[in-house]
Amino acid sequence: MKRIAVFASGTGSNFLALNDALNIDKSVAEITLVVSDKPKSLVVKNAHKLNINVFSFNPKEYKKRVEYEKNILLKLIENEIDFIVLAGYMRIIGKTLLSKFEKKIINIHPSLLPSFKGIDAIGQAIDYKVKITGVTIHYIDEGVDTGEIIAQQAIDISSLNSREEIETEIHKIEHQLYPKAIISLLEEKYEKSTD
Ligand code: GRF
Repeated sequence: MKRIAVFASGTGSNFLALNDALNIDKSVAEITLVVSDKPKSLVVKNAHKLNINVFSFNPKEYKKRVEYEKNILLKLIENEIDFIVLAGYMRIIGKTLLSKFEKKIINIHPSLLPSFKGIDAIGQAIDYKVKITGVTIHYIDEGVDTGEIIAQQAIDISSLNSREEIETEIHKIEHQLYPKAIISLLEEKYEKSTD
């Protein structure tokens, strides 16, 4: 049984979808810890309700990323975390975490990368008037949305009329694609391990 930490800053609908999926197939992994830079976010409230450990922090109380990441690292070690899933975590991951969790941090991004990297990918796609957009799951590296791609799914948005409709479609895909990718990745990655 692998131990996952989910990093999130907001609503956490992907966190809930993953938690539900892992509860169905209990042998693969469990979410052991939620890390958030927004102590009052919905994701933190929901994690508490589900009795999942939470480490939340206020980045303004730290001078540099390396300082709060050292604290995150301590929590990851304390909770014996094997794998990190970013789900709407609005911060760059620095060397402190990357060096200890190489190829063990993944993210979900609401566009078909390499198109529309960075903030507000859905808004960027709307402004560009693209007909097809999608969802990408990728490893985290030192860049912003530049890591190796794990899975992608395209969505035809040509008949959708509002941002809200597009967001709903994207979330629907995310909630299926992310848990599926995580479960198969963990099964593959730890195939040879005994537990
Ligand atoms: C998702 O659209 C994800 O692609 C992006 O942030 C959003 C998080 O949504 N990285 P939620 O907090 O999981 O509802």
